Parts: sequence; structure tokens; C-alpha cells
Amino acid sequence: MGSPSSEAKGLVLCVLSMVAWSGLSLVARASDFNKDFDINWGDGRAKILDSGDVLTLSLDKDSGSGFQSKNQYLFGKINMQIKLVPGNSAGTVTSYYLKSEGTSWDEIDFEFLGNLSGDPYVIHTNVYTQGKGDREQQCYLWFDPTADFHTYSILWNPQTIIFSVDNTPIREFRNLGSNGVAFPKSQPMRLHSTLWNADDWATRGGLVKTDWRQAPFTASYRSFSAEACVWVSGSSSCGPMDQPGWFTAKMDADGQAKMKSVQREYMIYNYCTDTKRFPSGFAPECAIM
Ligand SMILES: *[C@@H]1O[C@H](CO)[C@@H](O)[C@H](O)[C@H]1NC(C)=O
Repeated sequence: MGSPSSEAKGLVLCVLSMVAWSGLSLVARASDFNKDFDINWGDGRAKILDSGDVLTLSLDKDSGSGFQSKNQYLFGKINMQIKLVPGNSAGTVTSYYLKSEGTSWDEIDFEFLGNLSGDPYVIHTNVYTQGKGDREQQCYLWFDPTADFHTYSILWNPQTIIFSVDNTPIREFRNLGSNGVAFPKSQPMRLHSTLWNADDWATRGGLVKTDWRQAPFTASYRSFSAEACVWVSGSSSCGPMDQPGWFTAKMDADGQAKMKSVQREYMIYNYCTDTKRFPSGFAPECAIM
């Protein structure tokens, strides 16, 4: 039997090796686009680089490109760092979204609408439940999203959907339960991203066209992470007793305050205030926003 001091040493060693192991597992968990995604559009225009660390999408006059996650998720906290198309990106749209399959699909949408050099990108969000969307919001960003990578996150759990940019919430879509607003909660979704030409509507309502002399347009991705329940052959990887932090998370007062301030300063469109489009009243969730 060891003396108290050798027991203490043993404990220290044990703690040190746990630290070493968790360090190792962090490395092993770094995102690998080869492992997590399939390129599903664009004939070689989408590329996985640096042995899986980086993915680039590109768009030229003939085609855009896109990728989708191999996994389907039923709830999760998804983060991706994206660097958007720089320079004159007018007419281009980079979309980044979760979507289920079928005709009454659910979808949680980020879209980034390009602009002329120096003019602000528009970040557009939407939520579809059972095939019904019409919940658009748009805002500017408080930084140049083409100068560097920034983190765009979707938290989706049974209570809420929170869209965040660099950890600042910009939008919440809550599960209102009995209040008659459908909430995505039973259809697993894949993560998708595409870069495409939408110059018929994207920039200043379609007035500014894509300048193909600037092509190819390129957007870059890195540091994907998903703390998520993965859907495998009809069942979830999260057991009924699994309650990881993200699964029960709600927006706290600090998040509320940050989101309100972003919306106050940067929001340029909100379906909940568009009386022209919805003359006979707004969607029920608008009453509590
Ligand atoms: C592009 O810039 C113009 C001028 O600043 C702005 O009105 C518009 O909202 C920006 N974004 C898009 C997608 O048109």
C-alpha cells in the first residue's frame, strides 16, 4: 500500500493523463469534410482541400455547386465557419440550411445575398414547417463577412430554434406548443450548402445582375461541428434519457438582449411587420415576438 504522498502522485498522474486524453480526443474531433459531407452538385466546382479541413464552393456561368451532410439529424447544435464570396458578389447567393425530405418538409434556412464591392451583404433567414415557409427575416451584418471566416450556428432542440452569428443570436423561432404554430420536431434533416446564381431577385430585388467577368465566385468553409442526435435507420442516437446541455437550452436574458439589439440595429425585413404582404393579419408566432 502506498504512502499518502504516493497516492497523491498517482492521482496527479491520473488527472494529467485525463487531460492528455481529452486533448487527443479534441484533435480527433476536428472537422473532416471528407468524413462528414458529400459533394452533391457542381461537377468538380466544389472542392475539399487540406485533407478535409477546408471546403470551397464555386459558381461560374454554367453552374453553381453544393454539398450535404452524410448524417441526418433530429435536433442538434450545428456550427460552421464560412467566408463568403468577396469583391463584387452581386447576384450570388450562398445558402446554408437544414432540410428534411418529402413534400411536407421542414427547413431552417440561412441565405447570404451578395452585393457590389463595399455594399453590405444581406443575411436572410427562414423557417419552414411541413412545407410552409413565408417566415423571412433579413438583416445586415456588423462586420465584413468576406474578409474572414465567421461562425454561423443553428441550435435546434424541442423548445426552440436559434440562429446565431459568432455566438450572437439574431433570430429565434420558438415551439409554441398548443398555440397552433407547427414546429419542426419529427422529421430528421440534413445540413446543406450551395452557392448559386439568383440575380433575378437577390441583389436589390434583382436590379443588379451577376458580373460573370468576376467568375468563378468562391465561398469557403471550415470548422464544422455538430453536437446532435443522429438519425440512423429510423431511430435517434440520443436515448430518451439523454439531455445534453444544447438539448434543453433556451435563450437566456443576455441572449434576448443581444438579439433585440441586433434586430433593432440591423434588421431590414421582417415578415411579422409586412402589412402589404399579409393584409389579413400576421402569422400567430408574430404576436409573441
Ligand atoms: C446591397 O447594397 C445596397 C446599398 O447599400 C442595399 O440597399 C442592399 O440591401 C444590399 N444588399 C442586397 C442583397 O441587395
